[in-house]
Amino acid sequence: MPIKLEHILKRVQALPPLPTSALRVIALTKNPDTSVKDLETVIGRDPALTAGMLRQANSAYYGYARRISSLQEAIVMLGFQVTQGLAMASAVAPLLKTDLLGYGIEQEGLWKHSLLTAMTAKRLCQHRKLPFGDVAFTAGLLHDIGKLVISIYVQEVGPYLLEKVKEAKFTYVELEEKVIGFNHATVGGFLAKTWFLPQDLVSAISSHHAPSQAQSHVELASVVHVANGLASLLGIGGGVDNFLNPIQQDALDRLALKENDLERLMADLGEFLVDPTLFG
Ligand SMILES: [Fe+2]
Ligand SMILES: [Fe+2]
Repeated sequence: MPIKLEHILKRVQALPPLPTSALRVIALTKNPDTSVKDLETVIGRDPALTAGMLRQANSAYYGYARRISSLQEAIVMLGFQVTQGLAMASAVAPLLKTDLLGYGIEQEGLWKHSLLTAMTAKRLCQHRKLPFGDVAFTAGLLHDIGKLVISIYVQEVGPYLLEKVKEAKFTYVELEEKVIGFNHATVGGFLAKTWFLPQDLVSAISSHHAPSQAQSHVELASVVHVANGLASLLGIGGGVDNFLNPIQQDALDRLALKENDLERLMADLGEFLVDPTLFG
């Protein structure tokens, strides 16, 4: 019973838009003429965004010994790209913290999985000396947003999907396509476009399960693919498809990642989890 595209798009449109302040932050951080003051003004007008950013900036992940107590300080110390990632994190956290019954994702599960994927994606970029670590963070954060849209359909056919995965050795994503007509990555791309996100994010979100087929930003999509695979192995928050997210060899080859690199990244992931404030 594949679902019609127009139904999916209606559901995409029905989700709340991203706060305009978060969209303004994305635009400002991409503009080389933007000053700290400009960013501070936009973020400062949104109390929820300000509070969320400061909380994130003070989590152990960023490793600052002293407390960051003002927005200006956070922007100066963390830099524009990290500021963009933090703004996105606090903008999408409320959305990602909802239950997704279709995927068997408990409350806040998708938020935890998304944050772990974001951190792993950024760490992977640092490890491979790739210059887009902060975009990878944001892409990791948003990679599964399509699940917000199609969870309702998965809920109806979930047990059937899983049975089929076991029987036919399909991946979960392939099953989503066969049964619903679209996978959550493609639908996430629709949502990203509706939110007017930049092309690098649209591409990474819509291709995170098939990075080789990305129309652009193949390396970024590959980073998110690998980070998602590693974060899924922890079994935190990804839902029923957690262990059905195989990491593709061509993505590993593209990033020149070997077994020992993956082990190191998994160890880093374990360290992130030690921080009790992580999921704020
Ligand atoms: Fe996914
Ligand atoms: Fe995921």
